[in-house]
Amino acid sequence: MAKRVVLAYSGGLDTSVAVHWLGSELGLEVVAVAVDVGQGDDFEALRERALGAGAVEAVVIDARAEMARDFVAPAIAANALYEGKYPLVSALSRPVIVRHLVAEARRHGAEAVAHGCTAKGNDQVRFELGTRALAPDLEILAPARSWGFTRAEAIDYADRNGIPVEATKEKLYSIDENLWGRAIECGVLEDPWAPAPEDAFSLTKPGDTEPREVVLSFEGGVPVGIDGRSLALEDLVRELNGLVGSYGWGRVDMVENRRVGIKSRETYECPAALALVLAHRDLEDLTLERDLAHYKAVLEIRWAELVYDGMWFSPLKEAIDAFILASQRHVTGDVRLSLSRGSCTVAGRRSPAGLYDHGLATYGSEDSFEHADAAGFVKLLGLGIETWASRQGGIGAGGIA
Ligand code: ARG
Repeated sequence: MAKRVVLAYSGGLDTSVAVHWLGSELGLEVVAVAVDVGQGDDFEALRERALGAGAVEAVVIDARAEMARDFVAPAIAANALYEGKYPLVSALSRPVIVRHLVAEARRHGAEAVAHGCTAKGNDQVRFELGTRALAPDLEILAPARSWGFTRAEAIDYADRNGIPVEATKEKLYSIDENLWGRAIECGVLEDPWAPAPEDAFSLTKPGDTEPREVVLSFEGGVPVGIDGRSLALEDLVRELNGLVGSYGWGRVDMVENRRVGIKSRETYECPAALALVLAHRDLEDLTLERDLAHYKAVLEIRWAELVYDGMWFSPLKEAIDAFILASQRHVTGDVRLSLSRGSCTVAGRRSPAGLYDHGLATYGSEDSFEHADAAGFVKLLGLGIETWASRQGGIGAGGIA
């Protein structure tokens, strides 16, 4: 019996060609696995296409709730923005897909898994490190890295072999989409100076919407409601993408450092992701004690790098997760966002666990702050600097003169 491989199948050109190629070139039985992470594809058509390309079986898995619960929620808790900008759209979906790829490999008695990633991207790293963490015994095949087809050659290969594909030789962009947003690459976007054309976007089209406010509620760092309505996280994210996106807000245009050493111009649209991180971070400003907040900000940078780099399943990531989880205990409350064309800003926040103390903060009459304590505090705080300065012969005065 032929050996089996489980292929992460997207329905696009490369993975469709891969189904055929793994069968004809390597003599493998291919089980195609399509994972629904909220990309909004027609999965029945996708299944047909995989079978049409020669897969012995095509499996569709609905992982939307899992993606929200296990991947998006931790990313919100971590205020995750790679290089301060990118909410890890693609990086978060790959470990979800890997989980199912490995599970299906076990279920179908496969010895190998395969992906359709090319050699220049991050996604190959995420697929392979994820697989090796979960199932080190499985072989990993990356046909698109070895066949060396250009896009036009891949289309010719599909035509010659009767593989059903929807691709055309003139493709405007390479798009990866899921619940958390949409990544748009290639084509005219490869010139970092050229502005992204309007037709690259679909989630962030400004409509004729009146300015409005929206209240996001969080419990223990997890978004749980919009305007007082409780929602499952995947529904909340979907609704917020529609709402915030309709104000034309939520785009990112950046030059990004890929893990493989390439600088790449990337455009994203992720209205819900950016709005949720904005709101969550603001609620933390109200609920996290200062030292914890400042230290968490340092770990957040590392968390985003690890996830970007394909280290979702890794000991450092696991340990930082424990820290972040502990930090979220009191991140409960509401954030009021103000939406208008091209803009989404925080207009207010409240929390039953808030550390804002009006009596301490006010300049009004209900002041509970001990003013007399400040003089000694400031004196001692500056004592070291004062001693140091006196030994330099008065650097302050010298500097001004
Ligand atoms: N540059 C982004 C990342 O590495 C987006 C990748 C999009 N992936 C794709 N196959 N088009 O996470």
